[in-house]
Amino acid sequence: MKAVEELIKEHKTLRVMLGIMGRICGDIGAGKGFDDLDVENIIEFLRVYVDRCHHGKEENCLFPALLSAGIPHENGPVGQMLREHATGRGFIREIQIGLENHRHGIAGSDSIVASGMNNYIKLLQSHMQKEEKILFPMAEKLLSKQLQEGLIKQFEKIEEEVIGHGVHEGYHVWLSRMKTKYNR
Ligand SMILES: [Fe+2]
Ligand SMILES: [Fe+2]
Repeated sequence: MKAVEELIKEHKTLRVMLGIMGRICGDIGAGKGFDDLDVENIIEFLRVYVDRCHHGKEENCLFPALLSAGIPHENGPVGQMLREHATGRGFIREIQIGLENHRHGIAGSDSIVASGMNNYIKLLQSHMQKEEKILFPMAEKLLSKQLQEGLIKQFEKIEEEVIGHGVHEGYHVWLSRMKTKYNR
């Protein structure tokens, strides 16, 4: 598999997660509340699988390779992608605050969870589209086959260091259970 293909595969997994989050937001909007353990696990998935692992591969491997290939940083697409990753972290914190408030019985906590999730969904949908339409094709054009193979090796290292293969599989099993639970 090519480096960019691995990232696109992870986007697919993230899109499944965003679909489930959308359904949870719908339930909250309909006054049905939410399962707090599911939301806690979603926060962990967004922090570990998406942020540390997927964004880690982009920020520590792909983006530096693109900058070395001459793509401008600050006013270019890489700077924009980095800012969006940071914005996403803020939305995860918002969901976390909503969950903590909910567990303390504080009024209005459900709508904080829903607003954090809605913001995250919108941001990541457009973010992934920009990467797939602009940044990844740029990488395939600018980076030699050898550089792209080097990226795959760096990705494997991040995968091992951040989550380990067994845990990665565990996330997929959990996600498919969640998909069944919220697919109605
Ligand atoms: Fe990204
Ligand atoms: Fe990405």
